[in-house]
Amino acid sequence: MNNKKHILVLNGPNLNLLGKREPGIYGNDSMESCLAHLRVSFPEVEVEYYQSNVEGELINKLHEVGFTYDGVALNAGAYTHTSVAIHDAIKAIEAPVVEVHISNVYQRETYRHTSLITGACVGVIGGFGMNSYKLAIEALLAL
Ligand code: DQA
Repeated sequence: MNNKKHILVLNGPNLNLLGKREPGIYGNDSMESCLAHLRVSFPEVEVEYYQSNVEGELINKLHEVGFTYDGVALNAGAYTHTSVAIHDAIKAIEAPVVEVHISNVYQRETYRHTSLITGACVGVIGGFGMNSYKLAIEALLAL
């Protein structure tokens, strides 16, 4: 690891389809363009990226980075609303985790109003489109 800060952007299920998936909700931008923008915006940060549709792989990634990285911006997708295991993984690691949502989940179906991971995270950012990721990194850097 170099002496830059290391932050992982971690995306859960269906977020590999950003840019194609329900553009009325999630917009037209791909994650690749978002990441390029983040890397220009935060030259002092090594912005790493990982996405998986598999719950256990997200947990493995949290374990892998959770004792060496400076923070994680986690959009757990639908696992936000279901996963005690991801909550426990966030609690188990040392790196601060910010919960991220592209959409404002409180304007959507009621089953999206419950997050099982908020209590394990340092805070939540949602509803700002792809800019939510940038705001989450700013929040992590300000801790
Ligand atoms: C989401 C909101 C979740 O409810 C949904 O399941 C997602 C994306 C968001 O970024 O707005 O997959 O986390």
